[in-house]
Amino acid sequence: MALRRKLIAGNWKMNGLRADGLALAEAIAARAKSGTPRCDLLVCPPATILAAVGAVISGSGVALGGQDCASAEKGAFTGDVSAEMLRDAGCTHVILGHCERRHGHDESDAQVHAKVAAAWRTGLVAILCVGETRTEREVGREVAVVASQLAGSIPEGATPDKLVIAYEPVWAIGTGLTPTLDDIASIHRTIRGIVPQNTRILYGGSVNPTNAREILSLADVDGGLIGGASLKPDDFWAIAEACP
Ligand code: PGA
Repeated sequence: MALRRKLIAGNWKMNGLRADGLALAEAIAARAKSGTPRCDLLVCPPATILAAVGAVISGSGVALGGQDCASAEKGAFTGDVSAEMLRDAGCTHVILGHCERRHGHDESDAQVHAKVAAAWRTGLVAILCVGETRTEREVGREVAVVASQLAGSIPEGATPDKLVIAYEPVWAIGTGLTPTLDDIASIHRTIRGIVPQNTRILYGGSVNPTNAREILSLADVDGGLIGGASLKPDDFWAIAEACP
């Protein structure tokens, strides 16, 4: 992997029945095969269709990721999916600590930390999400919040080949709002000073084909974690193409 080659990751969230998900995967794989993407590509479909999507994207260069994992390896954890199971389904990556987990499911830094350790235990790259709420930004606490999430969620032994950070301000997710370019540049610079050298730092939150180029051109932005726009193959591809 080139140092900090850009990564465009699609977080499909809880979207995609089998037919839709496979059609989306086919469309993305076809584009990836026909062009030479300037970035690494990753799709993170719902757990139910991971293996089927994995079969569709096989050979296209597009990687497969989960959206969450349990910290335990196996056992009596009804409804949970372990990192080992994601790996077994063909994943190489897993999104952890997304704000829809931190805030929607009350996940603490300690839990996220244990999940990152579980991902590493089985050889998955952890895409660790951090980001402040609107209220935290309004009172100027965004740097403190992000620094404390990083300190609390990253286990010992982090290296750039197994950790990716996604800075995702909670108030920018799915809202069409984005921080100013200066604000994104500034917080990414701060994160760069905290994480191991050459760790990729993605921006996420309302990235679309219109704003992608200017965001992805910022010095410390190494790609994007894309939600809504990753469900539309043309948009997802346009964002990948916007990588400088
Ligand atoms: P969005 O979601 O692109 O729809 O804002 C990003 C994310 O939640 O990862």
